[in-house]
Amino acid sequence: MARCAALLLLLLAASAAAAAAAAGRKEKAGEKVCDKGWECSGSRFCCNEAISDYFKAYQFEELFAHRNDAQAHAADFWNYQAFITAAALFEPRGFGTTGGKEMGMREVAAFLGHVGAKTSCGYREAPGGETAWGLCYNHELSPSQSYCVDSNELYPCVEGVEYYGRGAIPIYWNQNYGIVGKGIKQDLLNHPELLEQNATLAFEAAIWRWMTPMKRKQPSAHDVFVGNWKPTKNDTSSKRYPGFGATMNVLYGDAICGQGSTDKMNFIISHYQHYLDLMGVGREHSGDNLDCDDQVAFNPSSENSDF
Ligand SMILES: *[C@@H]1O[C@H](CO)[C@@H](O)[C@H](O)[C@H]1NC(C)=O
Ligand SMILES: *[C@@H]1O[C@H](CO)[C@@H](O)[C@H](O)[C@H]1NC(C)=O
Repeated sequence: MARCAALLLLLLAASAAAAAAAAGRKEKAGEKVCDKGWECSGSRFCCNEAISDYFKAYQFEELFAHRNDAQAHAADFWNYQAFITAAALFEPRGFGTTGGKEMGMREVAAFLGHVGAKTSCGYREAPGGETAWGLCYNHELSPSQSYCVDSNELYPCVEGVEYYGRGAIPIYWNQNYGIVGKGIKQDLLNHPELLEQNATLAFEAAIWRWMTPMKRKQPSAHDVFVGNWKPTKNDTSSKRYPGFGATMNVLYGDAICGQGSTDKMNFIISHYQHYLDLMGVGREHSGDNLDCDDQVAFNPSSENSDF
């Protein structure tokens, strides 16, 4: 009798696993898999609220209040729906859906803080302040160089195509267009202009970068922000700790980090904090390790030319 029950349990467990496998899901032992009403299923993150539940169109308008002004350089390009559509592709992997609602809001503020700072045309005396001008650009206006590394065999420059900065967290250089294009399944090497023609793809490329480690065995910006990442001894001796500061390290390395308290670094931080305030979370919830002024880069620029 006991053997029968055990066998039955075994069969039940096996058929549940088979059903999950048939549905194309990967399950880790002990992880709850959820299937809620929103466009998300088969991931434990789908048990949580979606970004569109706690970040509404009116809030996007407040964060990027001047993006359609006459002075803006990408008027009528960026919009809330493009962000939400792109974000939905990454929510099953934990973007904006890791932890509770406050962590979700903080992650959205952090990601958009990078976007706002990198696409800003704000300056200190600008109406609304220098952080009120995010999403002013969607591409670099006067490229100072061609951003082509001819020696790259995997992603060679295409004749007549230019690889200047484009997108929500701008991408530069042929190899980076190649890498990100592969990541979002778009031929960005031949068609980098997609990132200045299609706001959904521009956000998708930026969120892909946020969610993806630059190198194997390294954390992504998402990982260092939401607490998925535990620093090693090497990390702590390089002053790298979880928090917003380390997201700048992942994305920009020593172009921003390890240079002391610079205007460039503080400009990014001030966008993140401004957005926390506007979203009602408040800058007092910025989290530990906000800056990266004494962090050693995960990937020193002397060793590679990524991004
Ligand atoms: C932007 O790209 C997405 C994904 O390829 C596509 O579904 C959408 O129609 C495009 N939008 C525009 C305005 O071309
Ligand atoms: C730690 O840093 C040292 C010196 O830079 C390096 O040789 C070693 O590979 C690093 N270890 C890990 C686990 O990254």
